[in-house]
Amino acid sequence: MGRDSMANEKKDDWTLDDWIKKLKYQAEESREYRNKLYEKVDLKNKKKILDVGCGTGAVTLDIALLSKGEVVGIDIDTGKLQEAIKALRNVPNIKLMEGDVLSLPFEDETFDCVVFNIVLMHVKEQQRAVDEMARVTQKEGYVLGTLEPDYASRIDYPEGPATPLILESLKERGSDLYAGRKLKILFNKAGLETEFGMDTETDFLFIKDDKRHLELFLRDFWLLEKLFKKDGWSPQQIEEYKKNKINEIENGLCFHFTPCFYTIGKKG
Ligand SMILES: C[S@@+](CC[C@H](N)C(=O)[O-])C[C@H]1O[C@@H](n2cnc3c(N)ncnc32)[C@H](O)[C@@H]1O
Repeated sequence: MGRDSMANEKKDDWTLDDWIKKLKYQAEESREYRNKLYEKVDLKNKKKILDVGCGTGAVTLDIALLSKGEVVGIDIDTGKLQEAIKALRNVPNIKLMEGDVLSLPFEDETFDCVVFNIVLMHVKEQQRAVDEMARVTQKEGYVLGTLEPDYASRIDYPEGPATPLILESLKERGSDLYAGRKLKILFNKAGLETEFGMDTETDFLFIKDDKRHLELFLRDFWLLEKLFKKDGWSPQQIEEYKKNKINEIENGLCFHFTPCFYTIGKKG
């Protein structure tokens, strides 16, 4: 692994394989949600698209399949980027490169669309990042943030022991738990004509179906297991938690929601 995986990251106890798995699932789950936003900016007809913080390339691939144009993915993390290069080597309209959103290696007005997905929460100088994205966007072009979580407003009811551990681990990594809510202001300050919102109608952000909730809980349990182990839980305690949680979910006795915002910024 080359440079730090996140700009202001302090500690990342996930392996590259953890990231590959997590980002792949996340891209799959959010595909329908993101597609609606891509439609709003007519992504499929854009000629030159930049995917900032492309990570392992899971979302970059969706964009490249949708668009006939050239897609450039950029990320600061060497490990994730190498994975993207390996995974996407046969996709002709993708170019991948290492770089920092705070200093994008492109001329002004190079792209007709700049997209990013779950990136600003990992960046310390967020205004500079959005200003940079606006700078490399052509006039009449768009900067589109598809999903930016606001973990500080996460709801878990009843609140079990997992929530504080999740939030603590994000803070340890240097993540901004308030990033989602800041997007509107960041985009407006960058001089973009801004639409800011959240789509809670899809089953992605706001999981209304308990069966789906259970499926996702079981699929992603390895993440919680990692946190519990780090916190010194015994295998029995972890098993007990899992059993109780399954029971709660199956009987509709718990609710979870992490607000994530989208932002569309048009350059005038
Ligand atoms: C949660 S991952 C999302 C990856 C990808 N957008 C996706 O949705 O699958 C956040 C990504 O932002 C990248 N990142 C963080 N700070 C960055 C920076 N200053 N410049 C470029 N990329 C950055 C990280 O390395 C990481 O790959």
